[in-house]
Amino acid sequence: KKQVLTGIKPTGRVHLGNYIGAIKPALELAREETYHPAYFVADYHGLTKIHNKEEMNELSRGIAATWLALGLDPEKAIFYRQSDVPEIFELSWILACFSPKGLMNRAHAYKALAEENVRTGRETDTGVNMGLFTYPILMAADILLFQTEVVPVGKDQIQHVEIARDIAESFNHSFGETFTLPEYVIEKETAVLPGLDGRKMSKSYNNTIPLFEEPKKLKKLINKIKTDSSLPDEPKNPNDSIIFSLYKEFATEVQTEEMKKRFQSGIGWGEAKNELFEVMNEFLEEPRESYLELMDSPEKLNEILLDGAEKARKKTRPFLQEVKRNIGILHS
Ligand code: TYM
Repeated sequence: KKQVLTGIKPTGRVHLGNYIGAIKPALELAREETYHPAYFVADYHGLTKIHNKEEMNELSRGIAATWLALGLDPEKAIFYRQSDVPEIFELSWILACFSPKGLMNRAHAYKALAEENVRTGRETDTGVNMGLFTYPILMAADILLFQTEVVPVGKDQIQHVEIARDIAESFNHSFGETFTLPEYVIEKETAVLPGLDGRKMSKSYNNTIPLFEEPKKLKKLINKIKTDSSLPDEPKNPNDSIIFSLYKEFATEVQTEEMKKRFQSGIGWGEAKNELFEVMNEFLEEPRESYLELMDSPEKLNEILLDGAEKARKKTRPFLQEVKRNIGILHS
């Protein structure tokens, strides 16, 4: 069986980009018999940004509740909070000692902030903590500790998976085959889901549609999605529309085919948005309810996550020992 792993960091509420880019494909893989899934809340990655106790706690529970509400079975998958698995941080240090600083300089989260600083006349590293700078190393540890083969992610994470591969390859080169080289899987069409304003949907652009937004607000947000100025009756290209991209993620195949035709014969944007709201809301109704229930039962959630962390540790400890033996740290 192949190891599949992915994580989400609690820096905001889970949005449609997270769902379509990562959670949905990850859950599909988890349903296949040929994969061992490990899915987690990347809370220590979130700590690079979230420096508020209540916010961290709530956002982190939100990610966990989302996975479960959407049907992740914690009996079949290893489902845990990153911070509950100390082996990850031990490996992270080891990997840091094999990661050239230049590789981190080029990592896009850091680079984007540094460039923005320069552009706006600030010191290059203003607002950069070392957690943010070494972010890709911790992510490499997440991936490599589980000897992961497949990482389902959105396009913005490709570079991070490649960095994990680079670090693994250079380690293997010096110490013999130790780490499995991971590969990312990307949904071609939705690798970058646009947000309300047409840019990538992202917590940092404030243009997201939260997955479990209450229906009234969801409807309002959908109405805010930017569309072109074509009028009703003018044919519209379904492949060029975020409304259609979203529609087909939540609709049946028959509904999707039907909608495609309506686009081509010129559905009005208002009507298209209404239809989108309907299919989304129907799909989300049940999971939204479970989500709210789970958010109201922090103890139950915690128990599930601690159980998962136990499984994660049991699975990964022997491999970490092997890594330590290979570098001469373990003397037995
Ligand atoms: P994060 O929390 O920013 O995002 C979680 C997942 O959602 C995907 N995503 C999108 N996909 C398509 N369109 C969008 N607009 C969009 N926005 C977000 C992201 O690509 C990601 O797959 N570093 C990771 C968390 C992480 C991780 C890992 C992932 C930590 N360790 C190990 C995989 C393996 C992150 O910040 O994701």
